[in-house]
Amino acid sequence: MKIAVIGGDGTGPEVVAEGLKVLKASAKKVGFEYKTKDFNVSGDRYLSAGGDPEKPSIPIISEDEIEEMRTFDAIYLGAVGHPDVAPGILEKGLLLRLRFALDQYVNLRPVTLYPGVPCPLTDKSSDDIDFVVVRENTEGLYSGMGGFQYKDTPNEVATQIMCNTRQGVERAIRYAFDLCRRRNDRKHLTLVAKNNVLTFAHDLWWRAFNEVATEYDDIETDYNHVDACCMWFVKNPEFYDTIVVCNMFGDIITDLGAMIQGGMGVAAGGNINPAGVSMFEPIGGSAPKYTGKNVINPIAAIAAMAMLLSETGQNTGDEKLTDAGRRVESAIRSVTPKMKSQSAGKMGFTTTEIGDLVAEAVATAE
Ligand code: IPM
Ligand code: MN
Repeated sequence: MKIAVIGGDGTGPEVVAEGLKVLKASAKKVGFEYKTKDFNVSGDRYLSAGGDPEKPSIPIISEDEIEEMRTFDAIYLGAVGHPDVAPGILEKGLLLRLRFALDQYVNLRPVTLYPGVPCPLTDKSSDDIDFVVVRENTEGLYSGMGGFQYKDTPNEVATQIMCNTRQGVERAIRYAFDLCRRRNDRKHLTLVAKNNVLTFAHDLWWRAFNEVATEYDDIETDYNHVDACCMWFVKNPEFYDTIVVCNMFGDIITDLGAMIQGGMGVAAGGNINPAGVSMFEPIGGSAPKYTGKNVINPIAAIAAMAMLLSETGQNTGDEKLTDAGRRVESAIRSVTPKMKSQSAGKMGFTTTEIGDLVAEAVATAE
C-alpha cells in the first residue's frame, strides 16, 4: 500500500505523526507492507512561494502533485488553514480541489461516542451514539456555480446555485444503501433533506432515494427534514444508523455530530472515491494556538488512519488492511477511557503519549 501524506498546517503534522506511528504498529502486527511519501502542501508553502494572503494568486497544490497522488492508494491529510491566509483560499485550493479532482464523491463521517468520552448530552452513552453520515461531496452548493451582477452597487445580485445531477445524487445514495447493508444488523437508512422548500433540488433526491430503495428490500428507509434531524441528534441520537445527505447539509450536521461524539479531537472523516484515490482526515482544523506544544488530541487523526485502512481494505478486497483498521479502532476504544478529557491540553497525556498508548494497544492485542 502506498500512502501520500499531507501533514499541512499548524498541528496537522503532529497528529499525522501519531497516526503513522499507529500504522507502523498495525502493519507489524497484521503483516502488510506499506510506503509513505510526504507532500509539502500547506499555507506556509503558499506564503513562502509568494502567494497573496488576501486572494488566490498561485496554486496551493500543483497539477503535477495531483497527478502523482493519483498513483497512490490513499491520501492521509493532517489539516489545512493558516492564520495569515484569508479564509477560503486554502480550503478551496487544497481540500475542495482534491475532492473534485479525484472525484471523491462521498464524505464518510462516522459519529461514534468512544468509551469513557464525556458526551454533552445527558444520559447518552456509547450505545446511543453510533451512526454514520454519508455526505455527498462533489455537488450541491459546493459546485461553485453562480456569480455576481451589478457588483458593489445597491442593485447587486449574488447567486450560488445548488447543482444536483441525477447521476451524482444516485451514486451517493447507492453508496449509502450498500454501506448500511454491511454496517450492522440495524439496516436503517435515513435521507436527510428539505424537500418541503427545495422543491426541485431535493425532489430529485427524494425520487432517486425511493427508486434505489426498491433494490434494497432488506433496508428500512426513513426521511427527516434537516432541521428536525438537528433536533433528533440532540434528543434521540440512538435513532440513527446510516444517514445520506447533500453536501451543504452534511457539512453542517456533521459538526453537530462531532460535538455529540466528544468534540473535534475525536471526529474523523474520509473523502471517498470507491474506485479511485480516497483521502482521510481528522475533521478538526489546524489549531494554530496549540502548534508545537505536544498537547493536541491525535485521536481523530488516528481514527482517520483506522478508516484509511478499513476503506482501502474494503475497496481493494485486501483483508489484512480491513483487519488492521478494525484493530486500530479497538485500540482507540481501549485508550479513550484512560484519558481525562478529549480537549487539547487537558487529556492527562501529551500528543505523543496518546500515540504511544494506541500503538502499544495495537501491538499487544490478541
Ligand atoms: C469540512 C470543511 C470544509 C467543507 C471547508 C473547510 C471547505 O468544513 O470538511 O467539513 O465545508 O467541506
Ligand atoms: Mn465542515
